[in-house]
Amino acid sequence: MESALTARDRVGVQDFVLLENYTSEAAFIENLRKRFKENLIYTYIGSVLVSVNPYKDLEIYTKNHMERYRGVNFYEVSPHIYAVADNSYRSMRTEGKDQCILISGESGAGKTEASKKILQYYAVTCPASEQVQTVKDRLLQSNPVLEAFGNAKTLRNDNSSRFGKYMDIQFDFKGAPVGGHIINYLLEKSRVVHQNHGERNFHIFYQLIEGGEEDLLRHLGLERNPQQYQYLIKGNCPKVSSINDRSDWKVVRKALTVIGFSENEVEELLNIIASVLHLGNVQYGGEDSNACITSDIQIKYLPRVTLVLSVFACLHLSLTFLSLCVFHHQLMSPLNLEQASSARDALAKAVYGRTFTWLVNKINTSLTYTVYTRTHTNYSVIGLLDIYGFEVFQHNSFEQFCINYCNEKLQQLFIELTLKSEQDEYEAEGITWEPVQYFNNKIICDLVEEKFKGIISILDEECLRPGDASDLTFLEKLEDTVGGHPHFVTHKLADAKTRKVMGRDEFRLLHYAGEVNYNVNGFLDKNNDLLFRNLKEVMCMSENKILTQCFNREELSDKKRPDTAATQFKASLAKLMEILMSKEPSYVRCIKPNDSKQSGRFDEVLIRHQVKYLGLMENLRVRRAGFAYRRRYEVFLQRYKSLCPGTWPNWDGKLSDGVSTLVKHLGYKPEEYKMGRSKIFIRFPKTLFATEDALETRKHSLATKLQAGWKGYSQKCKYQKLRNSAIAVQAWWRGILARRRAQHRRQAANTIRRFIKGFIYRHKERCPENEYFLDYVRYSFLMNLRKNLPKNVLDKSWPTPPAALTEASEHLRKMCMQNMVWSYCKKINPEWKHQMEQKMIASEIFKDKKDNYPQSVPKLFVSTRLDGENINPKVVQALGSEKMKYAVPVTKYDRRGYKPRHRQLLLTANSAVIAEEGKLKQRIDYGTLKGISVSSLSDGVFVLHVPSEDNKQKGDVVLQSDHVIETLTKLAICADKINSININQGSIKFTMGQGKEGIIDFTPGSELLVAKAKNGHLSVTAPRLNSR
Ligand SMILES: Nc1ncnc2c1ncn2[C@@H]1O[C@H](COP(=O)(O)OP(=O)(O)O)[C@@H](O)[C@H]1O
Ligand SMILES: [Mg+2]
Repeated sequence: MESALTARDRVGVQDFVLLENYTSEAAFIENLRKRFKENLIYTYIGSVLVSVNPYKDLEIYTKNHMERYRGVNFYEVSPHIYAVADNSYRSMRTEGKDQCILISGESGAGKTEASKKILQYYAVTCPASEQVQTVKDRLLQSNPVLEAFGNAKTLRNDNSSRFGKYMDIQFDFKGAPVGGHIINYLLEKSRVVHQNHGERNFHIFYQLIEGGEEDLLRHLGLERNPQQYQYLIKGNCPKVSSINDRSDWKVVRKALTVIGFSENEVEELLNIIASVLHLGNVQYGGEDSNACITSDIQIKYLPRVTLVLSVFACLHLSLTFLSLCVFHHQLMSPLNLEQASSARDALAKAVYGRTFTWLVNKINTSLTYTVYTRTHTNYSVIGLLDIYGFEVFQHNSFEQFCINYCNEKLQQLFIELTLKSEQDEYEAEGITWEPVQYFNNKIICDLVEEKFKGIISILDEECLRPGDASDLTFLEKLEDTVGGHPHFVTHKLADAKTRKVMGRDEFRLLHYAGEVNYNVNGFLDKNNDLLFRNLKEVMCMSENKILTQCFNREELSDKKRPDTAATQFKASLAKLMEILMSKEPSYVRCIKPNDSKQSGRFDEVLIRHQVKYLGLMENLRVRRAGFAYRRRYEVFLQRYKSLCPGTWPNWDGKLSDGVSTLVKHLGYKPEEYKMGRSKIFIRFPKTLFATEDALETRKHSLATKLQAGWKGYSQKCKYQKLRNSAIAVQAWWRGILARRRAQHRRQAANTIRRFIKGFIYRHKERCPENEYFLDYVRYSFLMNLRKNLPKNVLDKSWPTPPAALTEASEHLRKMCMQNMVWSYCKKINPEWKHQMEQKMIASEIFKDKKDNYPQSVPKLFVSTRLDGENINPKVVQALGSEKMKYAVPVTKYDRRGYKPRHRQLLLTANSAVIAEEGKLKQRIDYGTLKGISVSSLSDGVFVLHVPSEDNKQKGDVVLQSDHVIETLTKLAICADKINSININQGSIKFTMGQGKEGIIDFTPGSELLVAKAKNGHLSVTAPRLNSR
């Protein structure tokens, strides 16, 4: 009820207790109707389940449904028969108290179906071992057998149970069903001999005839035609569309085997069934006062199937004569036709009735789990009572009287148990007991069953008293004895208005559920339920083992009159009440929605009738007399705590304080509720509904919050996961880095260590200690060398090699040099080559000999210092065909006085020419040139030595050139006088002609100075250069 209800579950109210207008029958029925239209067939009245027969298969009995109800609180799921079953089971398990489920309702209302559903629920959901499985099977299979023998098609129900059934299911300490026990009540035996129009006899007859094998039928002397049998044709309804007798026969046969019937037992059982049919066909004729059997053909089968042949005559006799015992003498009195047929019918009823009882006992034996009964007596029990509800017909007879009496007793039990539990609960909860206003039907029970004064006692008295006792005398006796009782009326005692609806042979009982008129006709006979002694005797002689168990001789020798039917019933009811009182009851009230067995039809009149006769309004009133709703604090708080900020999301204090806070916040008025020790009691449904509605509204915001919470949570989880992953990756990566670093350091340390060691051992022979170091030194030298190779041939730098590489370094240096030279050479053009050749010659001549040579090296030698424009054309002309190779301005010092004069020195192929302006002053053929002198200092003075004897020459020529290295090199080349150049230290002697000699003194000084010295020498001061 308090579960998360779906819209469908919310149709009407799930519990009538919550009906605002609980006294209104119309509101009650309207709620039933609303729910029925939505196929919601179950509704509660507190813990009572009201069930409306849907007359169609609903998808609510699947295994999934069973699972949904298993172990779940009663009110947390929508009402269901499984909820009742589960609740009882759990109470039995947890509280260790035996339970019973009382199912009542009109014929066709669904009682038997309900009990089957409960049984199936236990069979499926309870734990089971292999042994237990057999018991489960037997429990389930007992149903088709009992239904075949005890159910029949009636106008109201195609499968109407014609007996009351109380079934105990026994559970062991593990909660597994281990056994069962069935008690049957008041089988409608009269059906064996008579059926109303449109009704049938018990199913087994038709099943046998339709389904029995040919051999079997032949053996039983039966024909495959129900129309042949008097006992089957009264209702004129051998076939029913909803029943398949043939397939049912197979089910029953199988079930008999499962339950443990031997082949013999089955045969004997069927013999009895057949014999009843044969007995029915016994016809009487003859005079009215002296009946005789006219249908010998039929009776001949009787002994064959049921009795020993020897008693054939006896039977024959017994069916026509009554044996009387008068003053210890056996007298035979002939029966009239009517008496004879009723004797026959009595026999048939007795045989069938007792066989049915035997059958139930047999089933009980098979359901007794021997291991358990022998060793364990303390099993728990759930009882299932499937018994007829109030019956009110147009004509009500003894049977209805008994049935309705039974229902009064059940109501009594209900009141006692419900009110008692209600009272106990109030006491336990410390709530002031408020008397509950309800109708206590004990007064009616007493009216029926009280010793000496009750209706049953009066009936028994009439049955037993000698004289002309009849149904009418019984009625009169009733009027005399209980006439003043407020719940008893007869035609005679009634007021005028009631009289109109009552017959003179009727009495009316004002049952708790309503008024019922009973017709007294047949009461005495039915109560007596007589079977003539001689018929009993015959039966005792039977060889059929079942019959010998049903009719035993002790019964014959027992002179005491057997109890009447009503007294027996009363006793069995008393026993039943005892059984039920010792258990905790649950109630299922079944209602049938229409008389035509149609689904979806809600016949309001019919239902109102049942609501009344089932006492549902009374149920509700009792239940509502106190508080409409009660719930344990924790449950109440758990459900509604979200409605109050003080209790949401959790209440930490005492539960009762939490509930108080909650209800105060909800604005409950003091008269609306009471606080017990462990429960809150709410008086009116509307209070609860308001709270429920508030919860419904609150649920939306809660749902949003939950969603948000969940989303947040899931995102947080996601984020956490990502973060953890990132951290893990980071950690791994850091680890990797750290390991790399450590490895690096280790390597570095190793390297350093090896290095140091190698350094220490560096001068030793190559060995493991120093090989690394040595290799490294080599390597680093080579690497260094690679970067620092000389840039050009003149660059003489070269890294210092380690000792081991000295030789290799030298090789490399040479190779490098060669390579540079080679590549340099490759780049040389003819012009440059010429230049180089000249430079080479200059080098040969002057290198390390003359101070200003180094300065001349980087300066290129030019082809000439004077070109055509600077040379007088006359000179050119004078030279004639001689080609001028080089010209340079020079200073000539006179031989006398050493006067400096500007001249031009021209070199041709054959001679050196000294020119002045347009004049060729002197020509020196190279062949005559004796030598060339020059100082070792940085000056540019040089002397061309010519032979003194040559008259053409006026002596050696003293010249000075600013480009002395270039000039002399060119001259040496042209004149081929490379080896004729003298480089002198200090002074140079030269001839001045005519045998005279001049001397030039060279001294280093600060600057170039050429002058005649006092000693007559030419003094040349040459600037000092740093190069040497
Ligand atoms: N819960 C149910 N679901 C579907 N059909 C049902 C249900 N209860 C009863 N019936 C139908 O109603 C018929 C009569 O039910 P039954 O239990 O034999 O009634 P009762 O025992 O009260 O006389 C069943 O044969 C079945 O067809
Ligand atoms: Mg039934």
